[in-house]
Amino acid sequence: MTDHELTNLSPDDFDEYHDPRPGPCGFDMVVERAISRRGFLGGVLAIGSGAAVFETGFASPARAASRFEFEPVGIATDRAVQLPPGFSHKVLVRWGDPLWSDANAAFSPDEGVPLAQSDRVFGECTDGMELFAADGREVIAVNSEFARLRVNLPSASQGVPRSADDVRLLQNLQGVTVMEIARDTDGYRVVTDSHFNRRITHNTECRIAGPLAGHELLRTASDPSGNRVLGTMNNCGAGQTLWGTYLTCEENFNGYFGASSEVPEGAGYARYGLRKKGRNGYEWFDPRFDMSENPNEPHRHGFVTEIDPLNPSAPPVKRTALGRFKHENAEMVQAADGRVVVYMGDDERGEFLYRYISDAVWQPGQPGGDLLDRGQLYVARFNDDLTGEWVALTPDATGMTQAEILCFSRIAASAVGATTMDRPEWVACHPTKAEAYCALTNNRNRGLKPNAGGDDTSPNGPNPRAANLYGQILRWHPDGGDHGADGFSWDLYVMAGNPTVHDDAYAGSPNVTPGNMFNSPDGMAFSSDGLLWIQTDGNDSNTGDFAGMGNNQMLVGDPATGDIARFMTAPRGAEVTGLCWSSDRTVAFVGVQHPGGSWPDGVGRPRSSIIAIWRDDGATIG
Ligand code: FEO
Ligand code: CA
Ligand code: CA
Ligand code: CA
Repeated sequence: MTDHELTNLSPDDFDEYHDPRPGPCGFDMVVERAISRRGFLGGVLAIGSGAAVFETGFASPARAASRFEFEPVGIATDRAVQLPPGFSHKVLVRWGDPLWSDANAAFSPDEGVPLAQSDRVFGECTDGMELFAADGREVIAVNSEFARLRVNLPSASQGVPRSADDVRLLQNLQGVTVMEIARDTDGYRVVTDSHFNRRITHNTECRIAGPLAGHELLRTASDPSGNRVLGTMNNCGAGQTLWGTYLTCEENFNGYFGASSEVPEGAGYARYGLRKKGRNGYEWFDPRFDMSENPNEPHRHGFVTEIDPLNPSAPPVKRTALGRFKHENAEMVQAADGRVVVYMGDDERGEFLYRYISDAVWQPGQPGGDLLDRGQLYVARFNDDLTGEWVALTPDATGMTQAEILCFSRIAASAVGATTMDRPEWVACHPTKAEAYCALTNNRNRGLKPNAGGDDTSPNGPNPRAANLYGQILRWHPDGGDHGADGFSWDLYVMAGNPTVHDDAYAGSPNVTPGNMFNSPDGMAFSSDGLLWIQTDGNDSNTGDFAGMGNNQMLVGDPATGDIARFMTAPRGAEVTGLCWSSDRTVAFVGVQHPGGSWPDGVGRPRSSIIAIWRDDGATIG
């Protein structure tokens, strides 16, 4: 593959290209065995009280009156946002829009953003976000996950970076944006020049905290202390702490690194997908990203990073106690005894679902202190009888030191026999009940190929379908209603599928119908009324296995009934990712990432954007 082909792959396809699954010879056999209707039902129903999966998890849509205060929308294949009647939307901010007035003229429809203003504007590829309010003012912290090379470097052949300046431009347009917003005549606007406005890029200095701070695994020539690092990167999902700070989650950091000679020997490089050739060209012009010269630099990325959005001078802090992997999001709740619990997925085929619990309790009104530095990391193990347990990743259990466990968490989790998952994306917890959900987006390798650690990925309880094209949403209830308990029971809230194409397990669970079908659930958040908002990042070809599913979308699920209804469709090419609400809950902010065509302007380059959605009657929407 040429440089330009490599650099224009998605992070996911980049990893798959380097590590493909076996050819189709074994494929048909395995799929047939695993998903024949009889085989599938037999498998699920044979597991003890497995029938409960269908009785509680896969509810009949006709069973209860709908709680959805909207008319569901049909699929779309257009280049627009579609919403139910009675709802309106407006773009709040687009890639390249100014955060400070000195960048008012920065964006050009043909050329994008110039280097000089590239850290003064809203970044590209908007993703997870949270809203913070203080003294009547509202601030959004939001991730810019990656930068599309051809979109950002239009004059470079195929978008392949040509210089250190090209690389610096890309680095500046990713990371995190903090911005004040204010009500406008319709919807909201960004408050340019607000003292809250801030860009955190791949070159912003961050503090390293927790057990890995200062450890030799994290020391480099430019930072012999191992305590400070430049940049938080590939910021995917997000979370909010109980004390009102932002958690940004570093996902596909591996793609920024390459090696001018050989990839270093040692733990973790292969398991984390660190390869000779990166997908962004950074290593050609920025030696920090050349692992041959700086073998420890990648060990300083892949963490949950905490940012105080209301204190622009506070440095971001990498919380190493929460482990190092391809972090999707970080969902914080409290255990019954007051300790802090964080649920986290590692988004890679056959990787794992994690939990962190602080040693100390959090008292309302107090700052976080070292609650995210002193605690225990766990990984989930699921049993086929619909129970499971959180397994503590300790030196005794893993045979690794605490530093190795946190720096190479995947290897530690494999050592304790964690359950391989179908790409854990966002975790969302019910606002009033001890109930948690994780989107398992899809896994075409399920049953066909082990994960990068060699762990078996045969279909298992929460990941029951081989070559899983569609994904599912897992749900668990901690024992005793306590997120601090080590045991839980689980079921599947929904298995996505296509009942118009398949009549086996690929048709999905009974709460999937021709009227609400979708694939690849990814972003998720609960609204205050206890409804689960589901965003998709999947195949929007609308053909073959995906016929009748249309563009990516946002749906709303009722946890009590299993009902799911489509609320929004995205412009073709885009995924929907990131969701938060205004303080008064009358406006929902939704991220539209990597649109196609020239959305939303109708001319020039496609621009990832946050849109504001409201009800025309001004009522709350969540
Ligand atoms: Fe960045 Fe797993 O999504
Ligand atoms: Ca995602
Ligand atoms: Ca995804
Ligand atoms: Ca994505």
